[in-house]
Amino acid sequence: MEQRLAPQALIDDTEKLIKLVLELKKQRNAVILVHNYQRPEMFRIADYIGDSLGLSVAAAKTDADVILFCGVKFMAETAKVLSPGKTVLLPTLDAGCSLADMATVGKLRQVKAQYPDAAVVSYVNTTADVKALSDICCTSANAVEVVNSLPHNQVIFLPDRNLGKYVQQHTDKEIILWDGYCFVHDKLDAETLMEFKQRYPDAKVIAHPECRDELLKLSDHICGTGGMAKFAKSDGSKNFIVVTECGMTDKLRQDVPEKNFLSFCNVCPYMKSTTLPLVVRSLMHNTHEITLPEEIIKGARKAIGRMLQISKNAA
Ligand code: 13P
Ligand code: SF4
Repeated sequence: MEQRLAPQALIDDTEKLIKLVLELKKQRNAVILVHNYQRPEMFRIADYIGDSLGLSVAAAKTDADVILFCGVKFMAETAKVLSPGKTVLLPTLDAGCSLADMATVGKLRQVKAQYPDAAVVSYVNTTADVKALSDICCTSANAVEVVNSLPHNQVIFLPDRNLGKYVQQHTDKEIILWDGYCFVHDKLDAETLMEFKQRYPDAKVIAHPECRDELLKLSDHICGTGGMAKFAKSDGSKNFIVVTECGMTDKLRQDVPEKNFLSFCNVCPYMKSTTLPLVVRSLMHNTHEITLPEEIIKGARKAIGRMLQISKNAA
């Protein structure tokens, strides 16, 4: 296969920008947290790279003065909730998440009134004010465990309907689904996956639980982004079809270079909106500092803290 090489000027610029970020990071006593879906060059400036759960744990633990988030806004908000005394930076406000925007406080109040005995489990892909109204948060890595830990028989699960359906298959509790979805995962289709499987019959399929059920049924392993490298390393297969956002294959190729990863994927424009020049600007001018009202921090902290406690108990 023909390899497309980046022009030398672009490579030089990237190297200069990385050097500058690393200098600024030291000057500001900053820590840079990077999600698995980010552009590959962002991995080179990271103090920690991981999934939503790992990033939350890292944000809670750091003793840096500044936390810079290369991810999306709800992740940076979670960092602010866990470390309210620190400066939390998000290099661009384009780094939103349309799934998180599908759950609003007004709608949640209505659903809660309809199901007064149900617990509210919010996926971390929600805004901080929705978390503050929730009993507990979860990520794709611990959603089943979180739901099964609750004494309630009914659970309002929001906002991802595909993850909610997946959880329903692993619990006896009644899951009240929210009609939200991640457009990146929801549009991945079973027909294309079938074609891939026919072309590469020995490849194992790893899928994110934000994908539709018919696709998950065709998969060998279902997990959040944090579990993908672990599975690829421990499984005996050489080839894997990765069913999630494209950036994950960059990360897998880096972490497990001895295996092959086929990209069955779409790009998340929110995740890809963070770039090295924006990180430089952010560290120089504090763009954009995340702030949250005190009562939202207090409420969201309870919900996130409960989730972290469960994951710690399981560790
Ligand atoms: P993970 O928690 O698996 O990293 O997923 C985050 C996300 O945004 C998936 O679309
Ligand atoms: Fe949100 Fe989907 Fe992008 Fe994840 S991949 S940040 S859920 S839009």
